[in-house]
Amino acid sequence: VRAYRGTELHIHLSALEKNYRWLAQVSPEFLCPMVKANGYGHGDVRVAKALEGWGCKTFGVGLVEEGLRLRDFGVQGEILVFGFSGDDAVESLLAHGLTPVISDGQQLEALTRSVKAPTPVHVKLNTGMNRRGFRSSEWPGVAQQLKETPNLQLRGLCTHLLEGEDLMNGREGLGYSLQQIETFEKTLLGFDKKNLFLHIYNSAGLASVFLNHQSMNYGCRPGLLTYGVDPMKDQRLAPLISPVMELHSNIVSTQDVKSGEVVSYGGLWRANRDSLIGIVPAGYADGVCRSLSNRGSFLVRGRRVPIVGRVCMDYTMVDLTDLNVTQDKVIGERAVIFGQQKDTNISVVQMAEAAERSTYEILTGVSERVPRLYLGA
Ligand SMILES: Cc1ncc(COP(=O)(O)O)c(C=O)c1O
Repeated sequence: VRAYRGTELHIHLSALEKNYRWLAQVSPEFLCPMVKANGYGHGDVRVAKALEGWGCKTFGVGLVEEGLRLRDFGVQGEILVFGFSGDDAVESLLAHGLTPVISDGQQLEALTRSVKAPTPVHVKLNTGMNRRGFRSSEWPGVAQQLKETPNLQLRGLCTHLLEGEDLMNGREGLGYSLQQIETFEKTLLGFDKKNLFLHIYNSAGLASVFLNHQSMNYGCRPGLLTYGVDPMKDQRLAPLISPVMELHSNIVSTQDVKSGEVVSYGGLWRANRDSLIGIVPAGYADGVCRSLSNRGSFLVRGRRVPIVGRVCMDYTMVDLTDLNVTQDKVIGERAVIFGQQKDTNISVVQMAEAAERSTYEILTGVSERVPRLYLGA
């Protein structure tokens, strides 16, 4: 598809490689990068194929549809599907060699009914998140049913942490994560776990255990870390990983706004001096959160320029006055929505903070109409 405007998402494959290699080194036993939600916005097929090229064997998706897409485009590795329901989904999943992560009785029943050939499966335990997964009391029944259905071949057991950062408190801490890990271990006490993958950590869990110099013990399903976003509040891990995604646009036009005039819908911003306003062709339909109205900033010429007025569907306005440039010079220049420009950086974490959104929403919020440009391939 041809792009006629300068708004584009840069995907740095060298950063993805660096992050992946670091993760593979830290979590050598089991590593399942999450490529759901279009690879956290980075492009699921491109990301999975790149990872596969560097030796990655397992991928995680949220939906059967996402797994099918990867298969259609030739991803060969194991694809764990964390969400599915109904017989059609199960048939499809089995027909295309996707690996179900069984999280409830209906899924187990449907699989038991449909499975005709040996199929690897993982089982998810609910240890406190109370979203998906079997409770401890259900586990013996599940184990029994698997035993009676030899075509369902148990390959892994997992759970999901609800507050991975709290592992920073160490083994003595009383955070949720330790309680969850304890519940996981207690539930499986006495069950033969030989040759099974046990995976627990999300990015925050892995980061905490790593920063605390604890031994890993369990496998990891990193989303954020794969894409170079530090899940920790203090950003201590940031130097070890690199952001994969940068959102760029440009100054498509300018307005000379006189002191006292307003900018954008609702007139939320009023100039208190004669101002040069840059018009950036990227708005909330592209992934610039509307909550950045009058509060966020972009980078132009390596400097932060404040967003003025309401973010629109297709446009965002920035105040260029302090750059002391003439308007004919600045038109066509790059505006970085998040990413690096010269020595200045707006990280996804910073944008999320300014927008009062999660980093997940920023990554997955870059819409489909923004072309992805893969660099360093
Ligand atoms: C089951 C499961 N595992 C792992 C992840 C990855 O989480 P993160 O991006 O925080 O590493 C997710 C994401 O929500 C998930 O749902």
